[in-house]
Amino acid sequence: MSEAKRLAAEKAMDHVEDGMIVGVGTGSTVAYFIEALGRDPGRIKGAVSSSEQSTERLKAHGIEILDLNSAGELSLYVDGADECDPHKRLIKGGGAALTREKIIAEASQRFICIIDPSKQVDVLGKFPLPVEVIPMARSLVAREILAMTGGQPVFRMNAQDKAVITDNGNVILDIHHLAILDPVAVEAAINQIPGVVSVGLFARRPADVVIVGGEPPRVL
Ligand code: 5RP
Repeated sequence: MSEAKRLAAEKAMDHVEDGMIVGVGTGSTVAYFIEALGRDPGRIKGAVSSSEQSTERLKAHGIEILDLNSAGELSLYVDGADECDPHKRLIKGGGAALTREKIIAEASQRFICIIDPSKQVDVLGKFPLPVEVIPMARSLVAREILAMTGGQPVFRMNAQDKAVITDNGNVILDIHHLAILDPVAVEAAINQIPGVVSVGLFARRPADVVIVGGEPPRVL
């Protein structure tokens, strides 16, 4: 799938204009986008980054990192997704960067989502839904989500069996076995639980354009 990811990322360059500040997401598809931006780093004014991982990659390609508070509203945000439905609603957060990704998506006029074809689904929820949680609320939030959705919350651990800690110092619950028939309602309901920082459902603010990598890429 990496070739499809690369093709989607290259196609997103059609939306990049000279002098822009570009919002940049996180993940392996975005890594190709950063690579493409890096071919002419002076073309854009800089990037607002959604994670430490992307910040490192952007800096390595000579792209200046700007603070969202100073940048203001962005005209373009480019990011990947773990799942995408026909309404361009997404599950994101496989890379644990969902909160900053959500902030940048909200701050952007246009959100271009770059995916390979395996990410397209009819109904969201096969990919476990990531929820970023304040550490002391982990068990409370897990119980409430189980009662509310019937989904099975799993505390995200890394390969060393240690809790995954987000760039914001929080933990992640991945909610398994969901079929999310009303993504806007589920997003709102999970957001209401005290201790939830954000949920990786991008339904209230979906993508504006989805680029599915292939030969040629499909623009939805
Ligand atoms: C990170 C994300 C990523 O966009 C998502 O996990 C897709 O990643 P990849 O491009 O590596 O398949 O939401 O938090």
